[in-house]
Amino acid sequence: MQTHTTLAALRAQLRQWRRDGSSVGFVPTMGNLHAGHHELVKLARRHADRVVASIFVNPTQFGPNEDYARYPRTPDSDIHGLAETGCDALFLPTVEQMYPFGTMGCVQMHVPGITDILCGAHRPGHFNGVAQVVARLFNMVQPDLAVFGRKDYQQLQVIRYMTREMSFPVEIIPAPTLREADGLAMSSRNQYLDADQRQTAVRIHQTLQFMRDAARQGLPITGFEDEASSRLEAAGFTVDYVQVRHGDLTRAKSPNEPGLVALIAARLGKTRLIDNLEFDAA
Ligand code: PAF
Repeated sequence: MQTHTTLAALRAQLRQWRRDGSSVGFVPTMGNLHAGHHELVKLARRHADRVVASIFVNPTQFGPNEDYARYPRTPDSDIHGLAETGCDALFLPTVEQMYPFGTMGCVQMHVPGITDILCGAHRPGHFNGVAQVVARLFNMVQPDLAVFGRKDYQQLQVIRYMTREMSFPVEIIPAPTLREADGLAMSSRNQYLDADQRQTAVRIHQTLQFMRDAARQGLPITGFEDEASSRLEAAGFTVDYVQVRHGDLTRAKSPNEPGLVALIAARLGKTRLIDNLEFDAA
């Protein structure tokens, strides 16, 4: 695997592959990679001749009181894991390369509507920062396709919207959520949890399953959303939201509909966890 720290070197590599007629798949990450990320690389590999991953902890998607400074940075094990997984090239840009005029002087993006609800309501500016960095990365890598995990369900929808709206010639491929044996969705933030919190964290997945089952029984949505929220609070979570929506994130009115998604964001101590479960109730 080639590791490129400059855009010029990455582009030279990409030009070579393009000359050979290879298609390029892309997996953007913020590093601290786990088995879930490796699955994204494997999925990209199934769809493209060459796979590029990037590691960049993007400052513009973190709020002032969020964990940008303490976000775990583990480049050595990340590089090792990506090489083992069959990634062809890794792009490791600096903040200066990504934002040459600084994060105050950069061109802003605002994706309307979808960035204001759910996680967007609790993390103002977060998804605009995600859209901003992903657009830059698409421009730098110019991939044929890019893989994003379904665990970050709202992020996936924001990126789909932006890609379509900006006419990026990039196919967005969603990847299934990888889970620990007890059902907890894999996440770099799980390592912040102490032993008790780690045991409690599985309640999120269990609560999503409870919501799916309640919808399938035709129970009123607001009733079981409230019940799910109370259960999480009783288990020790501070709940940001518990909701059932349509796949496109518009509000679901009736439980008897196809293509629904239950979504939860809740905090255990200082650690914010998100997860979702897609299901058909009808
Ligand atoms: O999901 C992530 O790791 C990040 O939000 C992404 C898509 C790499 C943008 O910084």
